[in-house]
Amino acid sequence: MQLAGLTQQITEIARQAGAFIRQERLSFSSEHIEYKDVNNLVSYVDKEAEKLIVEALHTLLPEAGFITEEGTIGQNADRTGLNWIIDPLDGTANFIHNLPVFSVSIGLADGKTPIAGAVYDINRDECYHAYTGGGAWCLRNGAVDERIAVSPATRLNESMIATGFPYSSMDRIERYLAILASLMKRTHGLRRMGSAAIDLAYVACGRFEAYYEFNLNSWDMAAGVLLVREAGGIVTDFNGGDEFLFRGDVLAGCAMQPELLAVIEEYWNNEGTLPIL
Ligand code: IPD
Ligand code: CA
Ligand code: CA
Repeated sequence: MQLAGLTQQITEIARQAGAFIRQERLSFSSEHIEYKDVNNLVSYVDKEAEKLIVEALHTLLPEAGFITEEGTIGQNADRTGLNWIIDPLDGTANFIHNLPVFSVSIGLADGKTPIAGAVYDINRDECYHAYTGGGAWCLRNGAVDERIAVSPATRLNESMIATGFPYSSMDRIERYLAILASLMKRTHGLRRMGSAAIDLAYVACGRFEAYYEFNLNSWDMAAGVLLVREAGGIVTDFNGGDEFLFRGDVLAGCAMQPELLAVIEEYWNNEGTLPIL
């Protein structure tokens, strides 16, 4: 398999889907909002974008299966072998509220290991792309392709950290808030962008030193975690292992990642040490 050529095509498909989403945003109104669940929004834009992506990718690599957010095509439930892992519109709540932070995320994984992918930051026209061993890149305005790298920061106290707030399952909320409170005192700041794929792309290009979230789906992070690794960063689950893709807890960062992991481990895993906020 020619990963370099394949990644160029993935990049083009992500940009095409993004152009569709950008166009639809111009006439989008609240009557198009549908609820998958409480706080879990969707619209025809997510579904149409996914159809467009799935059709193009199926032609590109017919032997690969699919794991997609909107379920356009039969899903590969056992997650083995090659799979396209797709979030056609990451940041749907932002899209619906016309907050210009939403993206397309397309990853190709071999089992639990992403090997190629692209994240398209639609409103900035930045398409981040990578394949295993090829470094991480950002195509700006469809014209300039620049190699990207994670931030050179080495310590938590010189870092800006992105995260995602829990919005469905609240059973670990105290632990999440304890981590947040600890980091507020020890970093340059915390941000909640609303698109996990963009959070990861911004770690890869050094805008954020690190990003962490739990309860994600594989389509939120498949492309983004590869970007961070290929940009020289470190990606683990909340236990420091590599089970993030299908378990949902992920921590990606530059050289200070282990220091952040220690904070997360302290509050997330040690049942005894919750501080009184
Ligand atoms: C969501 C975004 C958000 C993250 C959520 C995701 P969606 O994806 O990535 O940043 O906090 O966990 O579900 O629903 O907009 O595709
Ligand atoms: Ca998502
Ligand atoms: Ca989505």
